This record gives sequence, structure tokens and C-alpha cells, in this order.
Amino acid sequence: MRTIRTVAALRATRRDGETVALVPTMGYLHDGHLALIRAARQQADQVVVSLFVNPRQFNDPSDLDNYPRDEQRDAALASDAGADFLFAPTPDEVYPPGFATQVRVGGPLTEALEGAHRGAEHFHGVTTVVTKLLNMVAPDVALFGQKDAQQALVIRRLVTDLDMPVRIEVVPTVREPDGLALSSRNVRLGDDDRRRALALSRALRAAEGTVAAGTTDAAQVLTAARAAMTPFDVEPEYLALVDPEDLSPVGTVDQETLLAVAALVGPVRLIDNTILVPAGSPGTNGRH
Ligand code: PAJ
Repeated sequence: MRTIRTVAALRATRRDGETVALVPTMGYLHDGHLALIRAARQQADQVVVSLFVNPRQFNDPSDLDNYPRDEQRDAALASDAGADFLFAPTPDEVYPPGFATQVRVGGPLTEALEGAHRGAEHFHGVTTVVTKLLNMVAPDVALFGQKDAQQALVIRRLVTDLDMPVRIEVVPTVREPDGLALSSRNVRLGDDDRRRALALSRALRAAEGTVAAGTTDAAQVLTAARAAMTPFDVEPEYLALVDPEDLSPVGTVDQETLLAVAALVGPVRLIDNTILVPAGSPGTNGRH
């Protein structure tokens, strides 16, 4: 695997007729990222993993300062998982002096959930950098994680709206054996907060159990989810049942519904989600 810093060097690696898959990351790779890289390996001749901690999507400067980084370790892990190139540009390569363009997806997709709590600017930072990465790498397919369900929806909208010639694939969330969704930020959890962090996945499992038992009333499902968080002394920033396509609020879980949760656990803001499938519903039809 080769590490590449510039767009010019990246373009020089392109060979006629070969397909390319891109896995965009902010590094500090874990098994969730590696699942995306392995899936990418199955889908294209060349696999490019991008590594760029994008300052424009951080609403909290201390989160950016404390974001874990270890490029050497990332290079070894990406290579083992099957990447051909690690594209790790400098901030100046991505945002050269005079950079003045922003790419925004408007409306509820960026204003709901994370947008309501972190500000829609977060997603404007994501869509700007993802547009840049897609233009720089020009992949046939780009892979994203269901862990960031809202981000995946925003990126699908972006690619559709701007006729970008790339296929978007979404890969299921990878979890620790106890249920905690993998995240680069988990390394910042102390022992006690690591135990408390289970509140999020436990809330999701409780809601899944309630829906599987036949409950469709959204308030009841949310009450069960919230109750599962209480023993961990974790208060959700939001815990919401929404339509999995447009993120509009849902009052009855009578079809597939996205349950999304965010919570501050010690110094770390965590997010997680699941798709609730009501008993007797036809299932996910391979969509997730
Ligand atoms: P980052 O948080 O590094 O995540 C990179 C990709 O890995 C995202 O598509 C994310 O959804 C996926 N991912 C993270 N944790 C996962 C897990 N436990 N299981 C499966 N996939 C997981 O998301 C970003 O970076 C940035 O916003 C980026 C898209 C790179 C733009 O800067």
C-alpha cells in the first residue's frame, strides 16, 4: 500500500479500465472502518482509503484538538484490510489559500437530529469535504457506515442532487461484543465512562424488544428505551423515532423506523442508531 499526499500523485495512479472504491475516514481506524475497507475490496479493482481530519465539520474546537490521530497505525491497518492507497492530504491540499466554496444539503436531512444539536454547519462541512474527496478520487463506489445513518442519508441526497457519477454503499454498524458501537472517540472514554457508554446500545436493544413484542406507540417505545439508559446515569441529548428516509418524526412504529440516539458520556459525545422493524412487517428488503 502506498501513502499519497497530493491530488496530482493520486490521479497518476489511475489506470484505464480499472474501477476504484473510496472509503473516506478521519483516521484512528477501528474494525468499523476496516469493515468498510473489506467491503470496498470486494467491489473494485483499486481501493483508496482517505484519511483527513476535516476541521470544517467540527463544531467544537476541543473535539478537533482531542481527535485521536496515528497515521502509521492507520496505514498498517488499512493495508492489512486490503487498501491499495492511503490518501492523506494536508489541510492546504484540501483547502488551498483562497478556498471559498461550500456545498450544502438543505432542509430536514441536515437540520434534524445531529443538525439540531450540533448545528447544520456540521453537515455542510461533511458535504463540502466529501464533494472534494469524490472529485479528487473520482471513485466508482464510495462506502459509508450505518453508524452515521444521518450522514449516509445526507451524502445520498448530495450525490443524487448533483448527479455525481458514484454509487453509495452503506455498511452495517460494527459493535464491541457488549454492544457499544465502535467509534474513534471511544478511546477517550475512561473505565467508568466506558461502562456507562453501554446506555446507548442498551436503549436501542430495549426499543427493539418492545417493538418485537408488538408495541407500535412511539411514546411507549421511547419510554422503554429511555428507561434502559437510566441505570447508566446517561441522559440522551436526543432519542428520536424518525422516518429512515426523510427523518420526519414518527408517531407510530408501523413500518421501518429509525431510532437515533446521542448522549454525552463523560467527555465524549456518542451517537448510535437502529432500524426498528415492526412484528409482521416485510423486513428491510435489503436496503440496510
Ligand atoms: P469517520 O468518523 O472516521 O468515519 C468514517 C466512516 O466509517 C464513516 O462512513 C462512518 O459511518 C464509518 N463508521 C464509523 N464507525 C463505524 C462502525 N462502528 N461501524 C461501521 N461503520 C462505521 O464519518 C466520517 O469519518 C467523516 O464525516 C467523513 C465521512 C470521513 C468526512 O470527513
